[in-house]
Amino acid sequence: MTVPPLAQHAAPRSPISGPALPVGLAVAALGVLFSIASTPVLPSSAADAMPRPVAVAQVPAVRTAAIPAADPCAEPGVQQAIANGDDAATIAGFGGGAAFREAVVAGNAPCISLTDPARVWVVVNKGLPLTPADYEPALLDAVPVQMTTPSGLVRPDVAAAVGAMADAAQAAGVGRLGANNGYRSYGLQVSTYDSHVRAQGQAEADAGSARPGHSEHQTGLALDVVACDAGCGGLDGFGGTGQSDWVAAHAWEFGFIVRYEDVGTPVTGYAPEPWHLRYVGVDLAAAYHEGGYHTLEEFFGLPAAPDYAH
Ligand code: DAL
Ligand code: ZN
Repeated sequence: MTVPPLAQHAAPRSPISGPALPVGLAVAALGVLFSIASTPVLPSSAADAMPRPVAVAQVPAVRTAAIPAADPCAEPGVQQAIANGDDAATIAGFGGGAAFREAVVAGNAPCISLTDPARVWVVVNKGLPLTPADYEPALLDAVPVQMTTPSGLVRPDVAAAVGAMADAAQAAGVGRLGANNGYRSYGLQVSTYDSHVRAQGQAEADAGSARPGHSEHQTGLALDVVACDAGCGGLDGFGGTGQSDWVAAHAWEFGFIVRYEDVGTPVTGYAPEPWHLRYVGVDLAAAYHEGGYHTLEEFFGLPAAPDYAH
């Protein structure tokens, strides 16, 4: 199912918001550049005598990766990338993360399903359960940092990103990152949610633990990180640590967003979780960060989902 965007949000700010260059003009500009590049080289004295080609001064800088296609889903490259399950190439085919987001919000991306759990752009929340409910990722790898529970698997692309992020945090001098939970199966989410209900009652459980079939952890794209110094702390102790501050500022560089921020509670229905990182890939994470977004729902122009329908 493709979730139709219901509301268009103006991006708070866009780092690459220069005038969009029509594809035809870009192609023409590239052609001019190519013909200039293939002009035979003249002896320097002859070259000095030649008038400078007017076209050199007129050709604008061309950023092909940022050129949004008029109908991105009709682009052969996009269709091939979707068929290959290559999310990064799909996003690049749209013209990059910001252009991808804009196309989805504008309803110009019918080939993109925000409910496909195998895609980095999937949205899972209290109103958008996983389909199928017992979805399992095709591949899972070990999380390459110290784990504090046995739930130490994530998708391979996420595992690589976690490793790079943890190395960068350590190199920045903020200490070690560990992890508490990565992938949780539907069955594990049943027991996790039930334990929260038994301990806290349903209302409080619903503010901190997703009901089965509604957790990003089931996609293999989510990870709860903890701060490890001599030993590793817990989830509740993560906020306010040097690692937490660093993660909030830098996780996007590795493809993660902090999914449940305090300002996002009215939209997500979850209390803040500075430890819950959701992998969306570096292109979308950069667009999210640079656009100043705080929830994935706002990013994709989806309705707030603070409550379950039933
Ligand atoms: N703690 C988050 C909301 C989850 O259970 O997926
Ligand atoms: Zn989590």
